[in-house]
Amino acid sequence: MLLNDIGLKYDADKSSRFHNYLDFYQKHLPDREFSGRLLEIGVMDGLSMRMWAEYYPKAEIVGIDIKPDMASYMHNEHWQVPERVKLLTLDGTKKADMQPLGMFDIIIDDGSHYWAEQQKSFEILYYSQLNKGGVYILEDLWTSHIEFYNNAKINTLDYLKKLEKKGMKMTYFRYKHKGLGIQTVFPEYKGLDSETVVIKAGQLK
Ligand SMILES: C[S@@+](CC[C@H](N)C(=O)[O-])C[C@H]1O[C@@H](n2cnc3c(N)ncnc32)[C@H](O)[C@@H]1O
Repeated sequence: MLLNDIGLKYDADKSSRFHNYLDFYQKHLPDREFSGRLLEIGVMDGLSMRMWAEYYPKAEIVGIDIKPDMASYMHNEHWQVPERVKLLTLDGTKKADMQPLGMFDIIIDDGSHYWAEQQKSFEILYYSQLNKGGVYILEDLWTSHIEFYNNAKINTLDYLKKLEKKGMKMTYFRYKHKGLGIQTVFPEYKGLDSETVVIKAGQLK
C-alpha cells in the first residue's frame, strides 16, 4: 500500500486530498520494514500519527504538540494509541524539551510554521538529534511567502538557501494546486503552491 493511500484513509492534509506531499516523501523515506524512530512536531488531531503508525508497523512513532492534553485527547473511541506511539506535550523549539527524546531517523516539522520556530527546531534537531542516514522534512514552506508567519530575520526558504550556498544538499517538492488551494485560507495570496523539503542527515553547516 502506498503512503498516500494510507494518508487518504486518515484524511491527512499531507495526502493528495490537499498538499499531495506523500508520494514524494515515500521516495525519500525508508521502506515499510523501517524499525527506527520517527518524530513529528505537531500532532493536532492525530491524523498523521495514525498514518505513520500504519505505514511503519515496526517503528517507534513520537508525536509532540505544544498544546496540553494532546495525548489524552488522542485516546478516544476512534483510536487506542498503540504502545509504540508516544504522544507528548512538548515544545519543538525548546532544546530542554527535545534533548531528552534522544535520536531519530526521521524528523518532520509540521508545527506552527512560523519562520523563527521552523529555524529554531531545525537548529536544535537536525544537527544533534538526527541519526546518520536519516531525513529531516521541513513541511509547508509555502508559509515563507506569507507575512502572517514572519517572526524572524529571514523567511525559512531564504534560510535554507543560505545553507545550500554553504554546500548543504536538499530536495524540494512543489505541488501546484488545482481547484481548492491555499488561497481559500489566505485569499490575498493567490496561486501559492504547496512546498516542502527533504534534507538528508549528516551534512554540516
Ligand atoms: C498543522 S498541525 C499538525 C497536523 C498533523 N501533523 C497532521 O498532519 O495531521 C500543527 C500543530 O502544531 C502544534 N504546534 C505549534 N507550535 C508547536 C511547537 N512549538 N511545538 C510542538 N507543537 C507545536 C499546534 O498546536 C498544532 O496542533
